[in-house]
Amino acid sequence: EKGGYDHFMLKEIYEQPNAISDTYRGRMRVAEGIIKMAGIDDNLAKLLNAKRILIIACGTSWHAGLVAEYIFEELVRIPVEVEYASEFRYRNPVIHQDDVVIAISQSGETADTMAAIKLAKERGAFVFGVCNVVGSSISRETHAGAYTHAGPEIGVASTKAFTTQITVLSLIALKLAERKGTISNSDFHYYLQELERIPEKVKLALESNEHIKLIADTYKDAKNFLYLGRGYNFPVALEGALKLKEISYIHAEGYPAAEMKHGPIALIDEQMPVVVIATKKGHYDKVVSNIQEIKSRKGKIIGIVTEGDETVKGLADHVIEIPETIEFLTPLLTTIPLQLLSYHIAVMLDKNVDQPRNLAKSVTVE
Ligand code: F6R
Repeated sequence: EKGGYDHFMLKEIYEQPNAISDTYRGRMRVAEGIIKMAGIDDNLAKLLNAKRILIIACGTSWHAGLVAEYIFEELVRIPVEVEYASEFRYRNPVIHQDDVVIAISQSGETADTMAAIKLAKERGAFVFGVCNVVGSSISRETHAGAYTHAGPEIGVASTKAFTTQITVLSLIALKLAERKGTISNSDFHYYLQELERIPEKVKLALESNEHIKLIADTYKDAKNFLYLGRGYNFPVALEGALKLKEISYIHAEGYPAAEMKHGPIALIDEQMPVVVIATKKGHYDKVVSNIQEIKSRKGKIIGIVTEGDETVKGLADHVIEIPETIEFLTPLLTTIPLQLLSYHIAVMLDKNVDQPRNLAKSVTVE
């Protein structure tokens, strides 16, 4: 059942190229330049006229929501707010009739997310679901939706759900942007082609596995980790830290790289591994100067870089390369080495990778 892998988590990490293509297959027709998604097509006017998009989710799904915030605002120019479902419903949120709420949930059973959806519906919002489990409670409670086609995710730590959520949310953003005219036709076509190439690039990113294992061995006894990223890769830093916490029980924090100087830089010494996502384009020069600040305080730097990068290679203790892609799709690639790094550290520390202590696959209590 684990298909030759030692753990479901590793199997699911390796399933991502297929999970991503299964998620866009039949929806994205690159040659014709169209995206067809019933849940979007049937509600197009509502979505295009939204004054605001509210995204509600928990955990990893909330991180996918943060990536989507950046993508929607960049491509569709509709303001987006991302909320923890658990906070949203306890603070009398302002919800308008012309708000569109997007609820993201792998399991479709998360109690906090469900309760937030009910509240949004009571206040008249249109609620769109992005779920993985077909027929789940959330998929039934929402007005419309689009499934991720990740297949069953058994490992408690979410992996392929995250990348397929970003895939679905990118498709939605692209479709709306094309309709709204907020991106050019030629960019639209180019973006579809780039999305189609992502599964091949995820395969290439997975080829760093053995190299990542060596890095894991070097840092497995660290007591703390810091993860830094900017722009589209800030949520990836949060997700990398969450993965490490969940399965290895090592304390880790994710931060926007530029926030470091406002506090967390005080933590940095020779004992602190810092994972920095420093891909080309995404404020690259700024991230390079953040890396120099860490280096001058003797932090250990693990850089996630675009292949062929020389600058970060010259500064970092280790680099992990990922293929080049357009900026808003980089989270689909930068996430891969972070998943593998936490996986190997947890295995080396002899932790129960697929069923970490205190955690359940779907959190059905509020
Ligand atoms: C992280 C993880 C949790 C879930 C969260 C939401 O690896 O598994 O943080 O992402 O409980 O679950 P869903 O997406 O099922 O609503």
